[in-house]
Amino acid sequence: MKNNVLAPSVLAADFANLQRDVEMLNNSEADWIHVDIMDGIFVPNISFGLPVCKAIQKHAKKPLDVHLMIQQPDNYLEAFKDAGADRLTVHYEAVTHLHRTVSRIKELGCRAGVALNPHTPVQVLEDIIQDLDLVLIMSVNPGFGGQKFIEQTYQKIKKLKVLATETKPDLWIEIDGGVNDQNAAKLVEQGANALVAGSFVFSSEQPLQTISDIRKQMASV
Ligand code: DX5
Ligand code: ZN
Repeated sequence: MKNNVLAPSVLAADFANLQRDVEMLNNSEADWIHVDIMDGIFVPNISFGLPVCKAIQKHAKKPLDVHLMIQQPDNYLEAFKDAGADRLTVHYEAVTHLHRTVSRIKELGCRAGVALNPHTPVQVLEDIIQDLDLVLIMSVNPGFGGQKFIEQTYQKIKKLKVLATETKPDLWIEIDGGVNDQNAAKLVEQGANALVAGSFVFSSEQPLQTISDIRKQMASV
């Protein structure tokens, strides 16, 4: 049985103090560091790219969980591997030949993840789930931090959990968007084992304590 993990998203960090914030995560109970890459095409926002990912890697002592919200991610897989990605997650909606993309990610030596937008049913992964290390369920529309959690997500987690139990019992089921200390336990209860939290962690006066609180909620299930 896998331990649950918490992956704070540096999208909500203070970019002028990125080293400080990454070091805070190093010293925290966080497990992975979630890195949100947005291209302004797949999503209506631009975050940051390869040089910033590399800069995060330089200071990070925890695995980088890279979430590519970009069109044609195939063109950048190797570059993100070189920029420090341990896990590489592409969007189902942004890829035509998903099996090829997932195989390439694994060839590069990364764990392979696929993200689903809120409107995309989990059943679309039925024939590839055995090849995946991780499925990321978006619990907000991708593009921005600080949005409201979509309640339908709980149902989706349950369905994915059923699918995973049959075909890929050790799948990471990661939830991204609007995660906080109020919904963390319920998400784990439904079957999630990895949670991303951006603004809830970084807008806190005491992020170390906030991370610890979410971890406690996750462990209470
Ligand atoms: C949204 C990103 C998320 C974001 C989550 O498109 O994929 O990872 O950082 O931020 P919060 O936790 O603030 O919803
Ligand atoms: Zn993300």
